[in-house]
Amino acid sequence: MSYIEVEYPVEKTAFYEMLARQLELYMGGERNQTARLANASAVLAQAFGDTNWVGFYLVDGDTLAVGPFQGKPAVSRIGYGKGVCGTAWARRESQVVEEVSCFPGHIACDCASRSEIVVPLWRDGEIWGVLDMDSALPGRFTQDDRAGLERVVRLL
Ligand code: SME
Repeated sequence: MSYIEVEYPVEKTAFYEMLARQLELYMGGERNQTARLANASAVLAQAFGDTNWVGFYLVDGDTLAVGPFQGKPAVSRIGYGKGVCGTAWARRESQVVEEVSCFPGHIACDCASRSEIVVPLWRDGEIWGVLDMDSALPGRFTQDDRAGLERVVRLL
């Protein structure tokens, strides 16, 4: 399947509807988790043009291990409760960080990052990983993005 460039609407509801359609298009029918998440990270990075890191950390025992992503090489393991990702896992809720330098324990992977959103991935009441997105723009992610991303990650 060749990738067809789409223009995402600015309005958030329409944006997240199109994002859901694109995720379904590029993951639809694929059962392999690595294949699904690899394409999901690419779709998300295309949709959010103003991000510098988009990808997944997946629960592996008592740590998160880096999964498919787009961006610079990143720390491969994050402990429970550590950094923004480990905090989302431990608190069992999304984290929206307007300014990463103000988040105690933030783990810097790309020093260009200024803001970040981390959204847990749920299956049968358990977190199996998190979606992590970084932007070089401060305050890039809003509560609307949190709500939109919490909906679309159910497709993963
Ligand atoms: N900033 C994250 C670490 C992962 S990188 O952003 C890719 C954190 O504090 O958990």
